[in-house]
Amino acid sequence: MKTEYLPELNKLVSKYEQKKAALLPVLHYVQEKEGLITPQIEADVAKFLEIPVVHVHQVVCFYHLFHQERKGKCHFSICETTACALLGADDIIAHLKARLGIEPGGTTPDGKFSLSVVECLGACEIAPMMQLNKEYRGLLNKKMVDELIEMHR
Ligand code: FES
Repeated sequence: MKTEYLPELNKLVSKYEQKKAALLPVLHYVQEKEGLITPQIEADVAKFLEIPVVHVHQVVCFYHLFHQERKGKCHFSICETTACALLGADDIIAHLKARLGIEPGGTTPDGKFSLSVVECLGACEIAPMMQLNKEYRGLLNKKMVDELIEMHR
């Protein structure tokens, strides 16, 4: 673990009775700093929290918010679960694929945009919706998607 991260990581851990309970905030912090979670980072986090590395790896693999590869500066995560699917998520995904020239899981060659397709983000009332980096955007249509792309070019 990089020593410059330790003051903040120790602060995060101090909020919990058990060190291992800080796993999610620790992973979020390190990913924010590094841009992704590598196997070495998983090992460093496991050592820091005194838990098995497989435990860290399982969490990283389970949550779509953690990335094992670097994402573009603008990361579109489109929900394709039932409410969003019924209200046009497939059209939004197809439009994004065409506009960005990438498939879900891909990143544009300039590193500006990434596209992911994810399960329900818990905001079904604004379907179809996406997470754009850390913000939710809902009631999507193609025009809104075009505006978001232009805004982030
Ligand atoms: S189904 Fe898309 S946010 Fe729940």
